[in-house]
Amino acid sequence: MTKNIVDPTTTSAWAELNEHSKNLKPDLRGWFAEDSKRAERFTFEAADLLVDLSKNLINTEILESLKKLAAEVKLDERRAAMFSGEHINVTEDRAVLHTALRRPSGISPELQVDGQNVDADVQEVLGRMYDFADRVRSGEWTGITGKKIETVVNIGIGGSDLGPVMVYEALKPYAQDGLEARFISNIDPTDAAETVADLDPETTLFIVASKTFGTLETLTNARVCRQWLLDSLRENGALDGKEENDAVASHFIAVSTALDKVKDFGIDPENAFGFWNWVGGRYSVDSAIGTSLAIVLGPDVFEEFLAGFHAMDEHFRTASLEENVPALMGLLNIWNVNFLGAETHAVLPYDQYLHRFPAYLQQLTMESNGKGVTAEGKPVIYNTGEVFWGEPGTNGQHAFYQLIHQGTRIIPADFIAFANPVHATKDGDQDVHELFLANFFAQTKALAFGKTADEVRAEGTDEAIVPARVFTGNRPTTSIMASKLTPSVLGQLIALYEHITFVQGVVWGIDSFDQWGVELGKQLAQQLAPAVAGDREVLAEQDSSTQNLIGFYLTQRK
Ligand code: F6P
Repeated sequence: MTKNIVDPTTTSAWAELNEHSKNLKPDLRGWFAEDSKRAERFTFEAADLLVDLSKNLINTEILESLKKLAAEVKLDERRAAMFSGEHINVTEDRAVLHTALRRPSGISPELQVDGQNVDADVQEVLGRMYDFADRVRSGEWTGITGKKIETVVNIGIGGSDLGPVMVYEALKPYAQDGLEARFISNIDPTDAAETVADLDPETTLFIVASKTFGTLETLTNARVCRQWLLDSLRENGALDGKEENDAVASHFIAVSTALDKVKDFGIDPENAFGFWNWVGGRYSVDSAIGTSLAIVLGPDVFEEFLAGFHAMDEHFRTASLEENVPALMGLLNIWNVNFLGAETHAVLPYDQYLHRFPAYLQQLTMESNGKGVTAEGKPVIYNTGEVFWGEPGTNGQHAFYQLIHQGTRIIPADFIAFANPVHATKDGDQDVHELFLANFFAQTKALAFGKTADEVRAEGTDEAIVPARVFTGNRPTTSIMASKLTPSVLGQLIALYEHITFVQGVVWGIDSFDQWGVELGKQLAQQLAPAVAGDREVLAEQDSSTQNLIGFYLTQRK
């Protein structure tokens, strides 16, 4: 796959898009007024999602050139390569097969990759994970003193944390009564201390989730929690007459691709759930990394979640480019980044349950596409991965939307909302969800159409402050709606963004599936640890700024 990477800037579509951007006179008001079918023409469906691209700075010609670009960079071939298990993660020489994690059982023909029957292996792990989840949920699996598990604590970081946290928060209404999940990720000792502070060790199950089982933060937190478990069981007298190893075995399970290392930690390999090196960390929430979810939400919910992913995978794999939503959204991002100069991309879910979705997307998109060389190792000569960020509406409206509405930058934004609320609430006669949705609809309208100086004047505004009250409009947004935030719809949304990220990576010719950029900091932290502990020799080897900063720490620590 390193061969034949097409430099997108050499394509005829890139030249066309350059021309389009030079000639572009953004006028969403005019474009909508002239074309009563604009919304219809630029609104698409993918599985259960409705996606309206009409409030973006595009027209038919631009979209045609973007599709031509997809053809010229051979998006079809690259997509087929991913789904079939070719080693498209070139720098790690690995297949990229998160789509295999959600293939339904019994699908034919079976997927064989690198001599592995991928379907059989996925189903085997899912089966074991569901059995285990059922045992915890029913109370058959207990802690060392025979008490039912009430809290599942996932210890992981990055992809071994962000996905499970986000999904747990999003699907909380589906959690079994009397079972909760908590998450420890940061090596800051505060995280573990605060998370376990009010827990009963006898009813707590820890899941050590780490693809490599070598991540400093996770292994440190796992040891800290093991110590907490043993100390607090001992204090309660719950360890009397029992072996520490048995306590660890009852209260710790693991999820990893490195099952050999799990045993060394004292976790019974019987209670470890594997996955494979063809699952990237940020693409792993639908693997055994979701064990905390299978336990707390239940296997049926997890299956529905996987089915949602698969529905979007099938859409992406089979829909024509004309109506292929992940492809069109990925291409639209290329337009915004490389031709309109967007540096960032806001994701604004109008659903409180999705409050961790932007954080989740940050790893998915930025660890994937924050690359400065192509998959062939050549420096890229165009911008790649934009900065993703966001917060749920309406909170963001009262914080940073000012800059999106009237600032000097172009900030494409995805607005996400659901027709049906989980909590139907009335304030007097007012349906509160309707009020919420009115805000969702109002924001994209305001961003697209703005408010002219004449409209401001017509409200009787003092002339001196008219300019400050003008909204230029023409601020690009995409609206994504579904009937309800169900497990399936959440799976669809995640897969949608996975494939958008893939499409952008294909156009940019980069390897979206490695993450070498996180390595240097990890290495240096290990090297600096002795200096922080007071080793003067190691300290003296550092640059003057680092010496000063560590020096300040050493003088201040009590
Ligand atoms: O350091 C980055 C990273 O490798 C992520 O890609 C990954 O999700 C995270 O660390 C955690 O890694 P692991 O699951 O191996 O502990």
